[in-house]
Amino acid sequence: MRQKLVAGNWKMHGSLQSNQVLLAQLREKLDAKLGAQCARLEVLVCVPAPYLAQVQSSLSGSSIAWGAQNVSQHKSGAYTGEISTSMLQDFGCRHVLIGHSERRGMYGETDFVVAAKFKAAKVAGLIPVLCVGETLQERESGVTESVIARQIDAVLEVSGIDGFWQTVVAYEPVWAIGTGKTASPGQAQAVHAYIRQRLSQHHAGLAEELRIVYGGSVKADNAAELFAMPDIDGGLVGGASLVSAEFVAICEAACS
Ligand code: PGA
Repeated sequence: MRQKLVAGNWKMHGSLQSNQVLLAQLREKLDAKLGAQCARLEVLVCVPAPYLAQVQSSLSGSSIAWGAQNVSQHKSGAYTGEISTSMLQDFGCRHVLIGHSERRGMYGETDFVVAAKFKAAKVAGLIPVLCVGETLQERESGVTESVIARQIDAVLEVSGIDGFWQTVVAYEPVWAIGTGKTASPGQAQAVHAYIRQRLSQHHAGLAEELRIVYGGSVKADNAAELFAMPDIDGGLVGGASLVSAEFVAICEAACS
């Protein structure tokens, strides 16, 4: 059975002060649970890079993992403003989001760049959380599957199917992110099953083990029905990850 994952994506939110409160609450409310009745649940927070040191010191020794929201595809060099995989590892990151739709849409990350970042993360030993998803216009034009296929295939081309071992795919329909519109459990399940089936054409065992999480307006009150779907292995949570009670309730929904 696949282990469920609930990952928070703080995006560009937080301050030293507010993070301290949130992290202390998460630790207090989640740590005991993750060790005991939710032993099979993995919880992760992906925070803005300047706060990695703070998160590392606040969460060290806890069962909550932390990671970044982006990474450079380059190892080092003259890339002003970029952050490398080894820098993330210096701060104890094990995971990194790759190809979030906000990076694809607002910062020009093409499938090609996303595939290079995925590979860089994987080669460094980080766990990439590869985000894929269609826009509203693409869904309405009936091309959801071909968009997802293109995004997945770009990574397959560079890293091969073996590159997907020990990684996570996040299906995040762009129209559901930060809009309050969640994909219905059935809509999300259909795309998750499609992703798994597409990868199973290359390696059935790997596809069966791969965790595919859903993102897009996941909240405490819709998490349980989403996580009950057979191919939904948890969630990537934006807005609701900034409110400890909401995030904890989402984690609880994933552990029941
Ligand atoms: P949301 O964001 O939960 O606020 O919709 C999800 C995401 O962008 O990862």
